[in-house]
Amino acid sequence: MRIPEQQIENIRQSADIVDIISGYIQLKKTGRNYQGLCPFHQEKTPSFVVSPDKQIYHCFGCHAGGNVFKFLMDYKNVSFVESVQEIASYLGIEIVNEGGDSDRVENKNEEYYELNQFAARYFVDQLKATPDDAPVNVYLKKRLLDTKTARNFGVGYAPHGWKNLSNLLIEKKSDLDKAVELGLIGSKTRGEYYDRFHDRLMFPIFSTNGRVIAFGGRILEKNSDFAKYINSPESVIYSKRKSLYGLYHSKEEIRRLDYAFLVEGYMDVISLHKHEVKNVIASSGTALTEEQITLLSRFTKNVTIIFDADEAGQNAASRSVELFLKADFNIRILTLPNKEDPDSFVNKFGKEKFLEVASKAVNFLEFQLSRFEKLGDLNDPDKQLDAIREVVRSISFLNDELKRNVMIKSLAKKFGLREIVLERELDNFLKAEKAKNQRREQNRELPPRENYEEVERPKLSKDTLKTEAELIKLLLEGDEKITGHIFDHMQPDEFQEPRFSSIARIIYDNYMNDDIDPSKIVNSVTDDNLKNILIKLTFKENRISEKRWEEVLDDQLVRMNRYNYAVDIIRNLELRKLDMQISKIAMQIEQTTNEDELAELLRLSNDLRVEKNNIINNDQHN
Ligand code: UTP
Ligand code: MN
Repeated sequence: MRIPEQQIENIRQSADIVDIISGYIQLKKTGRNYQGLCPFHQEKTPSFVVSPDKQIYHCFGCHAGGNVFKFLMDYKNVSFVESVQEIASYLGIEIVNEGGDSDRVENKNEEYYELNQFAARYFVDQLKATPDDAPVNVYLKKRLLDTKTARNFGVGYAPHGWKNLSNLLIEKKSDLDKAVELGLIGSKTRGEYYDRFHDRLMFPIFSTNGRVIAFGGRILEKNSDFAKYINSPESVIYSKRKSLYGLYHSKEEIRRLDYAFLVEGYMDVISLHKHEVKNVIASSGTALTEEQITLLSRFTKNVTIIFDADEAGQNAASRSVELFLKADFNIRILTLPNKEDPDSFVNKFGKEKFLEVASKAVNFLEFQLSRFEKLGDLNDPDKQLDAIREVVRSISFLNDELKRNVMIKSLAKKFGLREIVLERELDNFLKAEKAKNQRREQNRELPPRENYEEVERPKLSKDTLKTEAELIKLLLEGDEKITGHIFDHMQPDEFQEPRFSSIARIIYDNYMNDDIDPSKIVNSVTDDNLKNILIKLTFKENRISEKRWEEVLDDQLVRMNRYNYAVDIIRNLELRKLDMQISKIAMQIEQTTNEDELAELLRLSNDLRVEKNNIINNDQHN
């Protein structure tokens, strides 16, 4: 359905964002704005702000933000149209459907969903059309995957050949650039497209709402020359960090039982469903992210983690444990016997046996201790110390003081240690974590502009000025990806030059309203002074000293280079900021005489270095 533009605008203007968001989370008035705990990431102090004036929300922690529609889309995992409909019905506004021109899409992401949907259907049809004795069907039989279950999960087959799907998309006059972005096809040179998946079993990955956002394609035969799975890349509709495989199929059951199994693989989810265990989701082989845990927390906070018994699986489990504890989950960990995974186990022994074994899952204390035991760490006194410390560190992530005490007691008993010693260790971890959070929040929560105008600013270096000017210029390109990247890493208030900060604020507000058309930005500036700077910047020759992208003529390459350039600048800014913090702490380390403080500072300094290395290393991977 298509809702007329004018009506969307009416609905947006009639809705009060504070009113709507209050229906979902608790907001408190602070000055002109409202504040609350962000529903999009885990936090203990509120950094989620709603502005009634601007009718937008923003989280200073995870940088989620947008207008009232965006909130509903993200919070409830619904489409743009659904969010408009929901608000309209809340306001008692009747939507007049503008029929007819069905070729116009109502949402800029809709075309992406449609492409994936088309591909998913194509893969399913291909599987149906394959003869019973073809390798893919032989393989499915071997994996005991019946037709009904396969259909339910949209399992399909990408046939041999390089031109199947791509030719179909060309015939259909689909937007091929978008299909490339989704990783369905690749393009060698302009106009030369090929299929990315061939001779693979295809698992569509669904959004919480049941739309196909990505694919995992499994090779049929073991072959060390090819990856076991090819997965879709990140795209405007797919962020691996934020999606959970199986959630769409399992969410009702998870809610009903208030309990979920977390497994590793696609096949684990599917096989458990086949055996009527329907409260299961997969991490897709890695530790869960904070975002995935936040997503899951909307359905349950009780999880049993079942990861492979191998080193990689146990490490991933261990990393997930930490994040789950921080997010207040009750977790248990299950290690299946004899190197079975949930898929093989349930296929061999059935549902009852599976649930029986699952009921014997251990809590995280037992899990960690037995892990260290297996690694032999509990025999070597030095390693034993480290192991105990590691366990205490995990205990420190529990928010419930009573639970912490109980755990400490049982740990002390197990190792014949005095509780007071462990308590002191626990205290250290708690303090360090608190300091870390404070530091993080200080970094994030710069006061809003109007309040810190008078604060004296350090004199700006020419370097900083130049960098900031480059960023503003990039923001004025009107490229959504670049703008998004910059605002993901930098708030308008973080620009040190006040005029740039004001300009960034305007662009940001427009961006939040899904409008990054540079001409509109210039028009919406009323301050003559700012307008001048803007116009100057807009028309200034592109003067990128390090990288002369203008020398590259291909349009797409220019876009790509520009994006890389933006990434570069941001990265350098972040590194510079970290360096400054590191040297500040180094000075404090020199000066302090207090031992506790010294330990704390060393820890901080170490954290910062790790952060810095992460940035540098990430860079190499990309
Ligand atoms: P597994 O290797 O355990 O695969 O990886 P699996 O899903 O159990 O597959 P089967 O049982 O051998 O058929 C677990 C998950 O890790 C991700 C996938 O999401 C997979 O489901 N993975 C694994 C990849 O993304 N790429 C890979 O090359 C391997
Ligand atoms: Mn498996």
